[in-house]
Amino acid sequence: MAALTATMQQNHRECDELFSNAEEAAAKGDWSAAEQAWQAFAKKLDTHITVKEEGILFPAIEAVNGPMGPTQMMRAEHEQMRALVSQLDDAVKAKDKQQYLGLSETLMMLMQQHNMKEEQILYPMIERSVPDASELLKQV
Ligand SMILES: [Fe+2]
Ligand SMILES: [Fe+2]
Repeated sequence: MAALTATMQQNHRECDELFSNAEEAAAKGDWSAAEQAWQAFAKKLDTHITVKEEGILFPAIEAVNGPMGPTQMMRAEHEQMRALVSQLDDAVKAKDKQQYLGLSETLMMLMQQHNMKEEQILYPMIERSVPDASELLKQV
């Protein structure tokens, strides 16, 4: 596997790990651990989608290929993810377990499908169109 896809896949896994730690703690009602893992997840996810993808990788491939469907679709899904993150943020603060676990399930399914599309389709496209994409990410 070439470098960019591997690096971004690893970043997805790190987000998943924090996300499931938060869910596990919330399920146990350990809100201090849940809030800590949740905040770490939200920060890592935001760096991933806002800085690395929308800030660097998507503009880099669009600079080569012009406006394109896959990046537009990923941006739209990021918006759905942000809306759920904001609702989950409220649920953590309210210590509302039922609300948290329901939203968490929805976000997890959305992220799984989203990440799979990036790993299988978009990142390999970026690798082909932007050979120095991994270098660009080093500034983050
Ligand atoms: Fe994404
Ligand atoms: Fe991603």
